[in-house]
Amino acid sequence: MKTMLAFAKRTAIGALENMLAMSWRSSAFRNLLQRFVLERTMGDPHRNYSANWRALDRLFTASRRQLLSIPGWRYGTSFVHTVVTRTVRELTRYTPIEGKVYCDIGCGQYHPYGISAVMYINGATSTIAVDMQEANRARAAEALYDLLVDCLAHPQDWRLSSICKEEFFDRIGRFNLKALRLGDLNDGLADTPLRYVIGDIRDVGIQPESIDLMSTTAVLEHFLDFETAAKQLFSFMSAGAIACHAIDLKDHRAYAQPEKYSWWSFLAEEESWSDSHTSRLRSTEIRHLLEKTGFEILRYDGTERGDLPADIRNSFKGRFSSMSEEELSITRVDCVLRKPAQQRVVPHVINGTNGVGTCVAEFS
Ligand SMILES: C[S@@+](CC[C@H](N)C(=O)[O-])C[C@H]1O[C@@H](n2cnc3c(N)ncnc32)[C@H](O)[C@@H]1O
Repeated sequence: MKTMLAFAKRTAIGALENMLAMSWRSSAFRNLLQRFVLERTMGDPHRNYSANWRALDRLFTASRRQLLSIPGWRYGTSFVHTVVTRTVRELTRYTPIEGKVYCDIGCGQYHPYGISAVMYINGATSTIAVDMQEANRARAAEALYDLLVDCLAHPQDWRLSSICKEEFFDRIGRFNLKALRLGDLNDGLADTPLRYVIGDIRDVGIQPESIDLMSTTAVLEHFLDFETAAKQLFSFMSAGAIACHAIDLKDHRAYAQPEKYSWWSFLAEEESWSDSHTSRLRSTEIRHLLEKTGFEILRYDGTERGDLPADIRNSFKGRFSSMSEEELSITRVDCVLRKPAQQRVVPHVINGTNGVGTCVAEFS
């Protein structure tokens, strides 16, 4: 009897495993299962999980290791490190960080204070992070705690400007690490000049000409009305201010469904097509619009390129069909811009549909 029961149990588990393995191929099922597991195991903040800590620890151990090995994990310190070292390197070619007001446009909903915090501990006077999607505040505080602890443990990796060591550590000391560890952003940041504004850049309330340093990562491609958005960014910047942008020109559908789409698939859609997320502007078009806005281009490079699949190249529609191979191969642009010191800014009102969209992309 016992053997029969054991056999039935093994068979049932085997069948269940096979079913799961098959269903796992469907992203809808995966999401459903992940939500179900998360909600059942740790979704209820009022439940006491202490009797179940071994199960939670198994999940924690596996997920922690996995996440730490993924460079694009946006709550993690390694993603912030990649982005901020590039940002500081580009900006400091033209101007120091110390004494400047820094702004992270489209900071994302995962680590909204990440880049700002590193800019601050490297000497920025104050910082503003802007995004139209609101972050989970407690999670953002915990992510910031992890980041600042890493800064304390490995200052050689995070002291990126010429700020002296004492000042660098003094600035980290202004964060209330205990509060951040407990998920309390308000107390955690009470003694720091870091601001986070939730809203569209069209009406986010940033004072004209108040920003000295600006950066974006994987954001400008989301402005569907690029020209209007570029004017808006221009108006935020003070005379002589520097901005650096990393622009992702890929078809974002390919991040979620690489088996179905390539980086260029959206260029084979009609001119009137839109995914409501990306403008599809190509490198030269973006450069032209930035120059038209009045920016001085200090650096402009196609930093990622790919080999266009021949079958796709022949199916490009509208203006994309006559673009050069060189132009079309560019899938990422990195640029550094200056607002000319002499230019007078004309206050400017934005109407219409500026590009917005949910963050679906994984970038760099
Ligand atoms: C691909 S995500 C990149 C986020 C972050 N920079 C990162 O690298 O993790 C693009 C972000 O830009 C934000 N965004 C797009 N259009 C915006 C707008 N008009 N105003 C404010 N934020 C915007 C989105 O909400 C999204 O969080």
